[in-house]
Amino acid sequence: MAARLTTRTSITGHGVWHPETVLTNEELCAAFNEFVRRDNARNAEAIAAGRQEPLRESTPDWIVKASGIVRRYVEDKTGLLDPERMCPNIADRSEDQLSIQAEYALNAGRRALDVAGRAGEDVDLVVLGCSNLQRMYPALAIEVQEALGAHGYGFDILLGCSAATGATQLASQAVQLGQAQCALVVIPELTTGHMNWRERDSHFIFGDASVALVVEPTDRARPGSWEILSTRMMSKWSNNIRNNKGYLDRCDPSTEHSIDKLFHQNGRRVFKDVVPLAARFISDHIAAHDLAPSQIARYWLHQANGSMNELIAKRILGRDATRTEAPIILDEYGNTASAGSLIAFSEYNADLPPGSYGVMASFGAGYSLGSLLLQRG
Ligand code: COA
Repeated sequence: MAARLTTRTSITGHGVWHPETVLTNEELCAAFNEFVRRDNARNAEAIAAGRQEPLRESTPDWIVKASGIVRRYVEDKTGLLDPERMCPNIADRSEDQLSIQAEYALNAGRRALDVAGRAGEDVDLVVLGCSNLQRMYPALAIEVQEALGAHGYGFDILLGCSAATGATQLASQAVQLGQAQCALVVIPELTTGHMNWRERDSHFIFGDASVALVVEPTDRARPGSWEILSTRMMSKWSNNIRNNKGYLDRCDPSTEHSIDKLFHQNGRRVFKDVVPLAARFISDHIAAHDLAPSQIARYWLHQANGSMNELIAKRILGRDATRTEAPIILDEYGNTASAGSLIAFSEYNADLPPGSYGVMASFGAGYSLGSLLLQRG
């Protein structure tokens, strides 16, 4: 019998995985500053003649103060710390091997399934969301589906830093519609591949990690699962966070390798635009349920910048939020693109009693925003 549209959904499992290699701000700046010295030496004549600005060094203290990031996990740091390379070394894999982003997804996905008490063959939908996909097709989600022995169907979505909240909403809707009974949301954010490690303004921002959620009908959920009471998405065009990498790159050899094919942003503008936008978006979502912001026990916010999160939470609550109310994982993980709010959820939900409300929210490139109002069962 077809399920009715009113099927309630819950997050029944969650899991985080990250590579073991840690990259500190100190290591990062030492390599970056060596690159700066070499580049300035190479261009000494042009700099002395005033034809070129010298590159400036980066400092660990500034990074902590400006972003809240202290370290991050990375797939590889040998390439990142080589001043002549400044790009992760990640070996290409043959077509009969599991691709690396699928591996990231499986590492977190298996943890989430364990928490839910489900096996791979119970899964009938895989939604894979992330800010960068390593290939065009076949969809990585289908590779994950095959590796798990899952059934049903799978698809990938890209939505910058809101890919994870977007993927979770799509999974929840599929379960609501009766299209799936056990949806696995996987967020393999191997972000170090899209960064410009030679750019002082952004070389410290990202880290690699993967997170996964299991979404099922609430009537199959174990006590302690988080019911998805409602979801919201919003987008508003902006060029302030952008990466132009795409399949048409080779069609114009004059720009094929230009630096706009990597992550770039106008960080200060993003900060100014997104703080009010996100605060209003989240406040409206809470108000639509006749809840006061103080009734939300936890805000699992997107993790791009510590001060940004403090300001957004302050605007919502009308006072400073404690770290317990709005946890920060940035110091340890850096910005893990869309994975951030889900990692914060996975790591900081176990202490909350049944009946607690929580909001998981993201904001990022697009601009794109996503919010989920949750209640512990
Ligand atoms: N080390 C030392 N100093 C640095 C530096 C570095 N790595 N990078 C920049 N600075 C300096 C600048 O030169 C400038 O100094 P000056 O005014 O004397 O020239 C000063 O720090 C401020 O630079 P600015 O670029 O305005 O920094 P900021 O305070 O805006 O912080 C971000 C930069 C990126 C941390 C911040 O804007 C941010 O996080 N914005 C939100 C971005 C976001 O959420 N993006 C989403 C990505 S998914």
